[in-house]
Amino acid sequence: MKAVDVRHEEPRDAARVRSVVAGAFGAEPGVEPVEARLLDGLRADPASITTGWVVEADGDVVGHLLVVPVTVGDAPAAAIGMVAVDPAHQKKGYGAELVGAALGELIQAGETLVVVLGNPAYYGRFGFVPAPVVGVESPLYPSPYMQALPLRVAHPRGEITYPRPYRDLEV
Ligand SMILES: CC(C)(COP(=O)(O)OP(=O)(O)OC[C@H]1O[C@@H](n2cnc3c(N)ncnc32)[C@H](O)[C@@H]1OP(=O)(O)O)[C@@H](O)C(=O)NCCC(=O)NCCS
Repeated sequence: MKAVDVRHEEPRDAARVRSVVAGAFGAEPGVEPVEARLLDGLRADPASITTGWVVEADGDVVGHLLVVPVTVGDAPAAAIGMVAVDPAHQKKGYGAELVGAALGELIQAGETLVVVLGNPAYYGRFGFVPAPVVGVESPLYPSPYMQALPLRVAHPRGEITYPRPYRDLEV
């Protein structure tokens, strides 16, 4: 196996993935971040996950990305649901490898639109723009953090609806 491998997530990765997510998003030691709870909610509702990706470095899972299904207006689209890289392994390009692998597969699958919630300074490098610029709105998350990447000229427009585990976090 290569020293660094980006591949689809497998069931055996689940425990390590959870610890990567908790470590990457955890601001305070011992306090579990909301993203770890969200990951549990998504796992409990398999229809809310399209694909999981991991990056493995020297046999250890050090990064994770989820693609989740959303609707935009009344049409299906894809979202990068969360990306996490173990703090000890950040800034080595693993996040970019994960995003690139996920986008490559979505392009091949004929997806027309990908959305993501995150820092524009990070996702802008992959071509994401503030969602309203391409006619996509989020009732839950504000611009400029809600971003979109059209993959076709004809893509859905309108309000984004995330899978239920995201909406459950808001109440
Ligand atoms: C965001 C994250 C996934 C990036 O992973 P990574 O492997 O460190 O990223 P890469 O090595 O591909 O890219 C590093 C670059 O991204 C920048 N970057 C990392 N996190 C960033 C953030 N939140 N906002 C803006 N820029 C960010 C770094 O400064 C670096 O910039 P440079 O290339 O100009 O030096 C990782 O930092 C992480 O897990 N953060 C905590 C969880 C999180 O915020 N996830 C994203 C929201 S879903």
